[in-house]
Amino acid sequence: MSYSISLTLNGVARDVALDDPRVTLLDLLRERLAMPGTKKGCDRGQCGACTVLVNGKRMNACLTLAVTLDGAEVTTIEGLAQDGALHPVQAAFVEHDGFQCGYCTPGQIMSAVGLIAEGAAGDDPDRIREGMSGNICRCAAYHGIALAVQDATR
Ligand code: FES
Repeated sequence: MSYSISLTLNGVARDVALDDPRVTLLDLLRERLAMPGTKKGCDRGQCGACTVLVNGKRMNACLTLAVTLDGAEVTTIEGLAQDGALHPVQAAFVEHDGFQCGYCTPGQIMSAVGLIAEGAAGDDPDRIREGMSGNICRCAAYHGIALAVQDATR
């Protein structure tokens, strides 16, 4: 049995046929839709490397079944920069060295964009750290990440 979904990916309407209802959004993005910026770390909801926005909310793409996304609006790291200009959160990560190896960075940035949109953390460093706690950085670049998110919030 095959399933069809229509979603908006980074502002572009996409129709997708799924031959397996167990395909995750993460695998769909990376393997079928040529969007490898979203990273696979743990593949079980523990690291945050796969964070994307679904209808403006932060989601772990590894825990989200693609078949549930009919009509959804999905934003990945590839959709942030516009007209060759970095998104303010991306620019803040560069400014504050909010990364080392960079593997977790797309997820960190997408989570930061979602956190800022939620408006719950403001520019409070402790609340920013708590709000970003679902995103693990093995290089422990947390200081720069927190500074970048705080700066981008202002
Ligand atoms: Fe999804 Fe780790 S790959 S949370």
